[in-house]
Amino acid sequence: MTAPRPLRRWILPVLALAVVSVAWSTAPTQDGPELHDLMRGVKKSLRTVGDALKDPAGDAQALEALAEMEVLLLASKGHDPTNLSEVERADRESHRAAYRADMARTLITALELEIAILEGRRDAAAEMLRGPLLQQRNDGHDKYQPADG
Ligand code: HEM
Repeated sequence: MTAPRPLRRWILPVLALAVVSVAWSTAPTQDGPELHDLMRGVKKSLRTVGDALKDPAGDAQALEALAEMEVLLLASKGHDPTNLSEVERADRESHRAAYRADMARTLITALELEIAILEGRRDAAAEMLRGPLLQQRNDGHDKYQPADG
């Protein structure tokens, strides 16, 4: 069995953060990278997955980028939505919960994409990327980015 390719060095602290986030799953984790930095990483991974799926020999690269995306989404889930202070105080807990659920759903979509690639269903994976994943990104940004952002 070949050794897995090393993930980029910066991913390890993020992975550690994600593990802490899971361990403290009842409280949002605000330590570690800021949400906008995690999101930039998600964007980069998404682009790599999209490009790799156009390359018939790109499965390994797509899987590596998806592994990164999943860690970043898991870490993102531990943050508060950026527009929380714009929401009425009485609605903040439900807004926070909705954000967390939506980020969890996006993580599930990334995992479904991974499963599709592992099972040789590349066309289905590309469809999931173009459809649900981009839809969840757009909806998440509409709901949780600040009004001026
Ligand atoms: C594949 C999916 C996604 C991609 C590629 C993506 C990408 C991005 C990018 C590029 C930014 C701007 C970062 C910056 O330069 O400041 C951003 C910001 C943000 N995204 Fe996402 N996103 C995704 C999914 C989501 C989801 C599902 C949610 C919510 C459930 C979400 C919530 C946010 C929020 C709240 C911000 C503002 C962060 C801040 O400035 O504090 N995103 N995202």
